[in-house]
Amino acid sequence: MKRKKRMLVCTTVLVLLIAGAIVAGCAQQPSTPTIEKPEPNEYGVIVAAQWKETYPDIYASYEMNRQNTSRVSYIEEDPFIVTLYDGMGFSKDYTSAIGHPYTLEDVAATARPHKLAQCITCKSPEMTAMVNAQGDSVYAMEFDEVYSKLTEPVSCYNCHENTGDELVITHKYLSKALGSDVSKVDPKTAACGQCHNEYYFDATSKATTLPWTGLSAMTPDAILAYYNNLNFVDFTNTISGTGMIKVQHPEFETVLGAGGKAQSMGGFSCADCHMGTVEKSAGSSYVSHNWQSPLKNQQLIENKCSSCHSNLATEVAAIQKKVTERETAIGLKLEDLTRKIGAGAADGSKSEEELTALRSLLRDAQFYWDFCYVENSEGAHNSTMANQLLDKAEQRVDQGLASFA
Ligand code: HEC
Ligand code: HEC
Ligand code: HEC
Ligand code: HEC
Repeated sequence: MKRKKRMLVCTTVLVLLIAGAIVAGCAQQPSTPTIEKPEPNEYGVIVAAQWKETYPDIYASYEMNRQNTSRVSYIEEDPFIVTLYDGMGFSKDYTSAIGHPYTLEDVAATARPHKLAQCITCKSPEMTAMVNAQGDSVYAMEFDEVYSKLTEPVSCYNCHENTGDELVITHKYLSKALGSDVSKVDPKTAACGQCHNEYYFDATSKATTLPWTGLSAMTPDAILAYYNNLNFVDFTNTISGTGMIKVQHPEFETVLGAGGKAQSMGGFSCADCHMGTVEKSAGSSYVSHNWQSPLKNQQLIENKCSSCHSNLATEVAAIQKKVTERETAIGLKLEDLTRKIGAGAADGSKSEEELTALRSLLRDAQFYWDFCYVENSEGAHNSTMANQLLDKAEQRVDQGLASFA
């Protein structure tokens, strides 16, 4: 990495001096390829296609993300979420993610309504660069005004800024939340934690914000306490009349677990499991930028996992089966409680005091359940945490339902 960077400086300086002679000058150092740094676009972003010549293998692997096109509708899979998310966009449209090249298309195509540019936070490096240049006010701009001009989905700049190969945290709300703990997080995990996290929009500034400061406050319990202290409401469920929290893809929080220890993950970073090195031929390799399930990467499993996991796919499937079965069972109980609270309010069989207590149980129960349900590994990242979350959800929903028995 260092060597490449020096070459960059070398090239730039020399080009400025005497164009012709330099090419020869740099070429005299035989083993190092010359790296041309492309010109950033109007947002100050060097887009993926501009790195194609410099990093052909990485660029080709990045383009492979487009091959993933199969989508699952969570509403068809789990119809009860229409009740759980009633009153917000996810009850109308909730399909599985497919990959980084689709982020910009997806945010516009969804039937969920968008008002402000904050929704583009994790969809385009051009948005990231705008926020970094102009400040948090960009989040509060009209969605259409910002969106209509953007062209680049999640790409190189989000993780490397314009360096080409160094890891840089470009999403500043993450560095802000981590503070001095940033040194405790592997940069190959922090890169992904920029977007694969639980966040909210600050009610006043509209800025994308993380609900914790310092790793020790990055636990589901502390995050719920944070939201409850703020009386934060993402949406009001119109059936039960409850102010709810909607959790979003908390992979970073789940992988690092309580206190920032990669407990169940043996110290692996996100990139170790989701990128991996591709051996092209003897002595020639590159880091794959096709972000996918480790189970689809046979070379990775053989090189990095099989020494300890004789059958990783079976192990993962067993964890996921248990977790998804519990998610469905508890999801159905949450649906039941939502409807019963609604009915209890409508027919007057529950007092205001009782309703307040029941709504508080429902809010907390669904928060714990959602923290597991919307985490993309379905339990594989941290089966201990997944089952603890489901225990907490179940205990609260059962307590609520008991008052209707
Ligand atoms: C989502 C984050 C992310 C994006 C987007 C991304 N990278 Fe990377 N990149 C990484 C990570 C993480 C590593 C380190 C991987 C490792 O060392 O295992 C890396 C490593 C690299 C390296 C160093 C490889 C080496 O051999 O040390 C280069 C060069 C690179 N990326 C180029 C690019 C280019 C070009 C693009 C856009 C086409 C891009 N990256 C997009 C996260 C990203
Ligand atoms: C700038 C924001 C951003 C960063 C940084 C980022 N991601 Fe993503 N990622 C997304 C978004 C948004 C999606 C959903 C894409 C869609 O619309 O289908 C996604 C989807 C994915 C998916 C596909 C999920 C699926 O269900 O098929 C994988 C795998 C993934 N990311 C892994 C990673 C890894 C590993 C890193 C770090 C090296 C990373 N991401 C960094 C925003 C990001
Ligand atoms: C020890 C390995 C490991 C680490 C570390 C790891 N993951 Fe995963 N991840 C997995 C496994 C296993 C799955 C489940 C894959 C499957 O169901 O096919 C998964 C699933 C995912 C998915 C859903 C992908 C899909 O195709 O459905 C995303 C997104 C993801 N991980 C992101 C991350 C992020 C972000 C990090 C770091 C914060 C991370 N992972 C760290 C092993 C890992
Ligand atoms: C040095 C041995 C070792 C290697 C290498 C290793 N693992 Fe593991 N892994 C473990 C152990 C031990 C556990 C059980 C941890 C526990 O139960 O808390 C585990 C658990 C897991 C889990 C389940 C986590 C959970 O919370 O239930 C996944 C998924 C996983 N590993 C994926 C991977 C992947 C992917 C690789 C290769 C990139 C890999 N592991 C490499 C030792 C290893």
